[in-house]
Amino acid sequence: MIETGDLTLDHRIVSTEETDEDLALERGLRPLTLSEYIGQDKVKENLSVYIQAAKRREGALDHVLLYGPPGLGKTTLSAIIAREMGVNLRITTGPAIERPGDLAAILTNLSPGDVLFIDEIHRLTRSVEEILYPALEDHAIDIIVGKGPSARSLRVDLPEFTLVGATTRAGQLSAPLRDRFGIIQRLELYSPEQLAEIISRSAMILGIPCTPDGAMELARRSRGTPRIANRLLKRVRDFADVLGNGEITLVIVRTALDRLEIDELGLDSNDRRMLEMIIRGYGGGPVGLETLAAALGEEAVTLEDVCEPYLMQLGFLSRTPRGRCATLLAYEHMGFPAPQTAADAGQMPLAADAGQMPLIDG
Ligand code: ADE
Repeated sequence: MIETGDLTLDHRIVSTEETDEDLALERGLRPLTLSEYIGQDKVKENLSVYIQAAKRREGALDHVLLYGPPGLGKTTLSAIIAREMGVNLRITTGPAIERPGDLAAILTNLSPGDVLFIDEIHRLTRSVEEILYPALEDHAIDIIVGKGPSARSLRVDLPEFTLVGATTRAGQLSAPLRDRFGIIQRLELYSPEQLAEIISRSAMILGIPCTPDGAMELARRSRGTPRIANRLLKRVRDFADVLGNGEITLVIVRTALDRLEIDELGLDSNDRRMLEMIIRGYGGGPVGLETLAAALGEEAVTLEDVCEPYLMQLGFLSRTPRGRCATLLAYEHMGFPAPQTAADAGQMPLAADAGQMPLIDG
């Protein structure tokens, strides 16, 4: 849990971290097929081809790595993959698999073709990863039986299966693990139009009346993330019930989100604090991530995973080799005058140069 002044990050309504409430909510709202899934068109098109091909060959789908910011639907996609392949889905997470034996137990219980989904796969320990390599490549695991000089390695065959790994930090995956995924797909933040479609669909399923401009306004403030959009939908519904006639309208959305201190672009107080620190504390940057995190009393990982992807998508932040910089657009949005001196202007990246999420490298 990270203290951030009067708020703790886990309790941010725009946090992308999954809560039990999200799980319950998402379970009812999750699309079940690729055709119901809104957005991520390239990923969907590619997966659809790979799934059809695997089904024609009557084999298991190749191992899939899904990466990108949290809350974009990696778990949902894995469930869709299993359903479209007509196989069972087993869900676990990297940190839950503590010892090699835990993974061996999961793997030996799979049925032919099954999908094993490992969320936060970058958090697997080395010794667990080592069990996974032969499982992925040769459909077998090597179990050590006995101890000391009499210990023997026993090879146990596994059924063919598909691993779907998900991570927010593809760069942290070890090269040998990354190389064992035949299909690597990056999920992108959603456009406001796509989020509006997701919100309208969710509102319909939940039986909440919602006008198109209400859905669009909510979409614009949901940081490109369906998990946040669905969470905000529930909060705004409370305002619609108490302050209005139950219908989610443009006025209700604006009133509710202003009260929740989520601005017209979806930034919350933590995002604004980060931008203000770069602009006022470090002359617009560049400032190193660790320095910035220490100055804000946050963890660097949180800034990197939660705040930065969206600030970069908005063109407010750029990642340079020397550190983070605020762009002119960020100055404008935050109501600060653009820096005047030639030196400052030289350092100021244009929004078009704003950094992207790092791709998987080398
Ligand atoms: N709910 C959450 N994500 C979704 C998506 N991509 N499409 C449809 N409904 C969703």
